[in-house]
Amino acid sequence: MFPAFTEDQLAIRDAAREFALHEIEPGAMARDHASEFPTAIIKQLGEMGFMGMNIPEAYGGAGVDYLSYILALEEIARVDASVAVTMSVNNSVACAPILNFGTEAQKQKYLRPLASGEVIGGFMLTEPNAGSDAAALKTRGTKVEGGWKLNGAKAWITNGSVGKYFIVMAITHPDKGKKGISAFVLDADQAGVIMAKPEEKMGLRSSKTVMVALEDAFVADSDLLSDYGDGLKVAFNGLDGGRIGIAAQALGIAQRALDESIAYAKTRYTFGKPIGEHQAIQTYLAEMEARVQASRLLVYKAASLKNEGLPCTLEAATAKLFTTESAVWVCDRAVQIFGGYGYSREYVVERLYRDVRVTTIYEGTSEIQRMVVARQLLK
Ligand code: CAA
Repeated sequence: MFPAFTEDQLAIRDAAREFALHEIEPGAMARDHASEFPTAIIKQLGEMGFMGMNIPEAYGGAGVDYLSYILALEEIARVDASVAVTMSVNNSVACAPILNFGTEAQKQKYLRPLASGEVIGGFMLTEPNAGSDAAALKTRGTKVEGGWKLNGAKAWITNGSVGKYFIVMAITHPDKGKKGISAFVLDADQAGVIMAKPEEKMGLRSSKTVMVALEDAFVADSDLLSDYGDGLKVAFNGLDGGRIGIAAQALGIAQRALDESIAYAKTRYTFGKPIGEHQAIQTYLAEMEARVQASRLLVYKAASLKNEGLPCTLEAATAKLFTTESAVWVCDRAVQIFGGYGYSREYVVERLYRDVRVTTIYEGTSEIQRMVVARQLLK
């Protein structure tokens, strides 16, 4: 298989697969139907080192490489995409920016509890009127003694109501345009951080996504990540990794949809034979397999570059674009193969179909991925 995985990488993939099958799968359907956050599972993932997989052990993480993380994420998404997004956001866009841009003191104070799974983290970039156009954000920082008071609204914040530490982007120097945006670590356990009721979403119903109001939320000067004005760099660097994670999530969902479809095609009979013997179903399965295989190569290629510390903006965006669009298509075909049963909440493909839909939207829409790819090609 490309790339040639090491024994350690395969052992981590297998551990994730075992945990997903035995601990996550049993309650996945019920949690989805009840919109119940998987608190105990996330705690266990923390104990396994899966909430800070690429973070050195000295800062509470597992200290494994990026490919191992991607393999684990794919396995977990195959079973429960809500658990996968909670893990992905914590790893990719909460822990990684602190590791890459944080001071030693920030790493001790914030990274250690996040990476060990003691607390959950998230990423506050998006606002009600600044989604794809992230630089249009309006959250304002006002200088006060010892730090900044933040005021504004953040939207679609994954892990919002369950998280404690968030990477937050805000305008600190309004006369400097995009270079006036700075990134901080925000402690959400304070009166100025007001979490709304979790959004009623189509899918990923057991993960928590909320609107957040910042009303004089305090961040200290020492909570600044990198320098003043580096907010977008911190954000977009985190999203390069985040996008590979979301591509891995989509890949896991698509693989599950394909597995379910193959099993069903062997046991469901029409016109006196299994539906898998009808050419119409065979063409669907073949096309699904081709898209899943191609997606896997793109995801592993982007992850391999990141593993080596090489630039991967182009490859991450390409992997996210192709894999998420393919996964939406694969899940749609799975529902079609299942027919009426695919439309029933009793069958997992119905959940896969709902869960996969957001992957072409969050951490940058497909339209934004195309923009990122084109800019890289033309620069
Ligand atoms: N790594 C590091 N720095 C980067 C970078 C990268 N990949 N891409 C851009 N930058 C830097 C640029 O160099 C620039 O800095 P300088 O001026 O010093 O060179 C700065 O960031 C701003 O870059 P641009 O001028 O290119 O930014 P832009 O305003 O033109 O926006 C964009 C570009 C690609 C459209 C960007 O706005 C974007 O990615 N939008 C989508 C936002 C997004 O993905 N949101 C997801 C929300 S998080 C989420 O969904 C998480 C969740 O909960 C699941």
